[in-house]
Amino acid sequence: MKTVGILGAGLMGAGIAEVSARAGSGVILVDASESAAVKGRGRIEASVRKSVEKGQLDSAAAKDVLDRITLSADIAALAAADFVIEAVFEDLAVKKDAFKKLDAIVGPDAVLASNTSAQSITAISAVTKRPDKVVGLHFFYPVPRMKLVEIVRGLATSDDTYQRARSYVEAIGKTGVLAPDYPGFIVNRLLLPLLNEAVFCVMEGAKPEDVDAGMKLGCNFPMGPLELLDFVGLDVALATITGLYDNLRDSKYRPCPLFVKMVEAGRLGRKTGRGFYAY
Ligand SMILES: NC(=O)c1ccc[n+]([C@@H]2O[C@H](COP(=O)([O-])OP(=O)(O)OC[C@H]3O[C@@H](n4cnc5c(N)ncnc54)[C@H](O)[C@@H]3O)[C@@H](O)[C@H]2O)c1
Repeated sequence: MKTVGILGAGLMGAGIAEVSARAGSGVILVDASESAAVKGRGRIEASVRKSVEKGQLDSAAAKDVLDRITLSADIAALAAADFVIEAVFEDLAVKKDAFKKLDAIVGPDAVLASNTSAQSITAISAVTKRPDKVVGLHFFYPVPRMKLVEIVRGLATSDDTYQRARSYVEAIGKTGVLAPDYPGFIVNRLLLPLLNEAVFCVMEGAKPEDVDAGMKLGCNFPMGPLELLDFVGLDVALATITGLYDNLRDSKYRPCPLFVKMVEAGRLGRKTGRGFYAY
């Protein structure tokens, strides 16, 4: 990919910009606010610096990576990109508005990808005049470390767009899996019910330590489900399982009442100093 455009310079957008620049692409990183764009660049610099300290990158290569990234607070800067990845807030109205604008700005052959965790790629693509060139690319946090990208085909995504998305994923050294355009794609569809069930175990009397030890020692999980919930934030995870429940209208995704109560209490995990464990 010659020039990758990224809209949204938050946690995910900055990570996607970094891996794209490390793969040799020119990157145009755009955020609605200039301070957010600068903060995103700061994140990339810190991450690249860490790679240099670990000996994974020499300082000349690190400089080249950073030099390949241009910042802007104007979405029109993305006109020069042939492949754009959107990583703005997880809100369908915000995403639709962004795609309408992108559709009018980029060249006719450009692919528009969304890093949405839960919105329908088909619904997002429908606001553009190029639904065949819209695809989902669901990255995982932290982007430089996580190897997987779910490639999501909307109803209208063409074979050519899918292949271009797959080539991009391979070029940045990740593994792509083809996921259906239904809530939760593959990973969250499986993971969230498991995390939710772990909270049911606690509600029914199991100790968090025992639930986590069970899954680590009995199933070789690198991290227990409750440790993972504390790590990602209970509020974020509860929003995702609630989204699955609302969208799929299936009682098997019913959020555990204790899960809701913990969020009500502000026990959100590491970020608030208390979740299933104290920090
Ligand atoms: N955080 C995760 O673990 C994770 C994992 C996979 C996917 N995602 C998805 O990635 C997307 C971004 O998540 P994040 O965690 O990076 O969020 P974030 O809040 O860290 O970053 C979002 C950025 O988008 C910017 N923004 C918002 N509206 C904009 C607009 N209209 N135009 C330009 N910039 C705009 C904000 O200023 C902010 O800097 C969401 O759709 C989220 O669901 C997140």
